[in-house]
Amino acid sequence: MNDLSPLMQQTFEIMTLGKSYGVLYGHYSDHQLDGRMITLNGRRLVNFANCSYLGLEVDHRLKESAKDAIDRYGIQFSCSRTFLESNFYEIFEDRLTQMFNQPVIIPATTSLGHISYIPIIVGKGDAIILDHKVHQSVQNATMMCKGMGTHVEVVRHNRMDLLEERIKYLSGKYKKIWYMADGVYSMLGDLAPMKEIYNLLNQYEQFHFYVDDAHGMSWAGKHGVGYALSQVDYFHPKMCFSTSLAKGFGAHAAVLVFPDEMQKMLIKTTGTTLIFSGPVPPMVLAAGITAADIHLSEEIYLRQDGLIDLITHFNQKAIELDLPLVRHDVSPIRFMGTTGSAQICSEIAFELQQAGFFVNAASYPSVPLKNTGIRMTIHLHITKDDIDNLLYNVRRIYDEKGVNTEEVLNNFKEKQVESVN
Ligand SMILES: Cc1ncc(COP(=O)(O)O)c(C=O)c1O
Repeated sequence: MNDLSPLMQQTFEIMTLGKSYGVLYGHYSDHQLDGRMITLNGRRLVNFANCSYLGLEVDHRLKESAKDAIDRYGIQFSCSRTFLESNFYEIFEDRLTQMFNQPVIIPATTSLGHISYIPIIVGKGDAIILDHKVHQSVQNATMMCKGMGTHVEVVRHNRMDLLEERIKYLSGKYKKIWYMADGVYSMLGDLAPMKEIYNLLNQYEQFHFYVDDAHGMSWAGKHGVGYALSQVDYFHPKMCFSTSLAKGFGAHAAVLVFPDEMQKMLIKTTGTTLIFSGPVPPMVLAAGITAADIHLSEEIYLRQDGLIDLITHFNQKAIELDLPLVRHDVSPIRFMGTTGSAQICSEIAFELQQAGFFVNAASYPSVPLKNTGIRMTIHLHITKDDIDNLLYNVRRIYDEKGVNTEEVLNNFKEKQVESVN
């Protein structure tokens, strides 16, 4: 271990600690899943870590489509997409184009999509400004640009005033100024200020925007196009858009959405992971087509409304119980601060398991070292009673451990600012 950097050593220790409490690296042992419950270490737990927000992953229509595709095409179609691909790709792309009303490509995952898109679209003479909390997968792709000589810097999370200062400063030195951000941030569930970003796009000619809306997909917007696009009236010609089909959408893979056909063709023909990585199996594409049909129907709005109702209920209950919910946004990721210690965070997640709930113990490196907490996701498989029971138990455990709401929230604010410096 002596070759590890201090931060890697810390990561190793925190991960090992979480594993020893049974809150990280778990394996469910169920023979069949219903989306709501899992069995872990012999205990039946309500799953508050499922990111399939609209409950489509166990929908019988998606399952039937996948089964039919397996019967007809087997488990995989193993050939580079550059030479030959499943006819499902074309159908799926058509459906997604209808949803987004823009040209699309379907990479195998969001991370692979970033790697195909970002290093091609960003030039050597451009500058990238990363939001401090932008997802690691975006950061990884920008490191490829950095390796090719692109200037990369970080701006404090969601600080549009500081972003504007940097746009003005960098515009004299670089060709395009890119801001890279998430639509919905994956740990705290907070949201990108899309309208303000659009104002900057309209105000500064050199300013461009790359957004990863992986956690925003499906639960918001017309046809479920996601949180980021739900906030604006049109697809900005200087925006590059990526999102996941492996969360709210209920299937798998990802989508890149382009401002025009030319950019789509550029990425399709040059994106490294589109050329050199394997295709999505036909069964997954088939399930995706069925999920897209649901998104194109009225049913999606009933599901969205049902989810918003649960999230609103969660937020109200957390306030009623004076719990340290770090953000009160209406988004399906909820984050309850704990003390700064990874150990206490693991203990709380473990005790919640004993009470019948599975939550994410969120410690470094997913959050800054001192910003540990309990991350919970809200999805359509759970009920308001599940939420109430979970939050009563969080209240009880926090009381037993002497976790003080005001202290946690203050500590959280201070540490968040510190970690940016
Ligand atoms: C915001 C965000 N982007 C990208 C990813 C990675 O997605 P994928 O597994 O499709 O690469 C995640 C993972 O959950 C995420 O939260």
